[in-house]
Amino acid sequence: MVTSALTLNGKNEKLSKRQKVVDDEDLISNLPESILSHILSLLPTKDAVRTCVLSTRWIYNWTFITTIDMNDTLPFGRRGCWKKKKEQFVNFVDKVLLHLANPSIERFSLSMTAYQNYDLVRVNAWISSVLRRGVQKLHIHLSKDVFVSSRSLFNCNSLLDLKLDVRCTLRVPSSHFLSNLKLLHLCGVKFLNDSFPHSTELVLNFPVLKEFKCICCKWLNAQCVSIETPQLESFHINSATFESLSNGISKYSVKINSSHLRKFSYSGYQLEDVILLNPSCVLVASIVNSFTRDEEYIMLEVQRKTCMLLAQLCEVERLKLEIYFMKFLARGRNLVASLPTFDKLIHLEIDSVFTPCETLLDLLHKTPSLESLTFKDVARFDKDLLASMVVPACISSNLKVVKLKAFEGVEHEIWLAKFFLENAKVLELMAITKYSRVFTCTDMAIVEQQLLSASKISSAATVKFLTVGTD
Ligand SMILES: *[C@@H]1O[C@H](CO)[C@@H](O)[C@H](O)[C@H]1NC(C)=O
Ligand SMILES: *[C@@H]1O[C@H](CO)[C@@H](O)[C@H](O)[C@H]1NC(C)=O
Ligand SMILES: *[C@@H]1O[C@H](CO)[C@@H](O)[C@H](O)[C@H]1NC(C)=O
Ligand SMILES: *[C@@H]1O[C@H](CO)[C@@H](O)[C@H](O)[C@H]1NC(C)=O
Repeated sequence: MVTSALTLNGKNEKLSKRQKVVDDEDLISNLPESILSHILSLLPTKDAVRTCVLSTRWIYNWTFITTIDMNDTLPFGRRGCWKKKKEQFVNFVDKVLLHLANPSIERFSLSMTAYQNYDLVRVNAWISSVLRRGVQKLHIHLSKDVFVSSRSLFNCNSLLDLKLDVRCTLRVPSSHFLSNLKLLHLCGVKFLNDSFPHSTELVLNFPVLKEFKCICCKWLNAQCVSIETPQLESFHINSATFESLSNGISKYSVKINSSHLRKFSYSGYQLEDVILLNPSCVLVASIVNSFTRDEEYIMLEVQRKTCMLLAQLCEVERLKLEIYFMKFLARGRNLVASLPTFDKLIHLEIDSVFTPCETLLDLLHKTPSLESLTFKDVARFDKDLLASMVVPACISSNLKVVKLKAFEGVEHEIWLAKFFLENAKVLELMAITKYSRVFTCTDMAIVEQQLLSASKISSAATVKFLTVGTD
């Protein structure tokens, strides 16, 4: 009953005057204030504010809400042209922030992507006002550059959860402690040392941060970025910006200092050095490198940097690699050979295309404990190749699951599948996911029959064919 009067489902936005007379009103009005403001906080902010029409006694109750969601893509106000709608949105945010009676805000989310040319001074004033009220969760998504007051932000110690998807420049003060911040997701943010231009280093210091995602961020004028996060458990960096690619190899390094890091993921062109100060605690890692330029010297440098990062991760249990230049690695086989052994690696997924068979086997020689391998799109090779290769130890002693993705049923794929079936002594499952395109030249039914009846050294091994979407 309570929910029906308040239209909690959000779609039914008809909190009309007529409804104020329903019997439920007293029931709700008699709720303790803290519960009422909690209920109102669960409503879309727009509907919470609309409760002011319920009765004169209700005029100010909405002002005690603690979570505020402002999204300019949601249908707003009365009908009208976009200019009118944009204006209504801006006035609404103004009104809510002005009348808010609660001294603190638990969550403020501002998403402005539908309209152009907002008054950015006003937007900055909103953000500052929310920061002053000790907001705990702040999410901002703007499609435009905006000025965010760095001082207010870095002094906002109430922040637990900060997501900024905004093109803004943050000037990082030398001593800053977002001392309660646990989660930080940044996209498109630029950082600058507050002592600029007298510094080429940048230190980010978050004493209790657990999760840090940093997508297309830039470190202006910094050659060394240190991320000091003793509690950090999960770190993702994506540095794939077009700008970084056009500048060629950059000279900066990113250092991560956390003795609790369990999950690390890198995505980008690996133009920078990434240094983990405590690499041995990482259990799960992923490296996606989409570097595509073919100038030999840059390529070699990128390969070297990627191998350097990979070498640091030699104690992981799960590893995913999607490296575009994998297909060139056969030429630089000594790079793979120079990698350390990944003694604890149990699961390896290679999502690159045209991985040379030699490179795949070279990698498997480095992973003696491997139990599960997923890969796709191995490049064509000569039939004699497999006969001349030493069978990696993990295949003969540990490998239980092999997953081949994007299987087209061509000759070299069949040879490789048979190679695993003939050598993996404890294999339990070979799962083959067929490529979704139909090839007229391959009769998949014949290929399937051939592999299902192929000789298997492991009596427990089964071969399964899957179609995309079932694996
Ligand atoms: C709503 O606000 C009025 C006026 O501030 C107050 O007297 C009343 O207790 C509030 N009602 C509830 C349920 O919080
Ligand atoms: C804003 O609303 C749109 C459309 O309903 C939705 O896709 C988007 O995720 C929302 N943004 C936020 C930050 O909630
Ligand atoms: C800014 O640079 C100065 C001088 O190099 C350094 O002492 C300070 O720690 C840096 N501040 C930040 C936030 O990186
Ligand atoms: C890494 O962090 C620890 C603990 O916060 C600190 O004692 C140590 O000096 C840091 N190491 C480096 C190289 O900055």
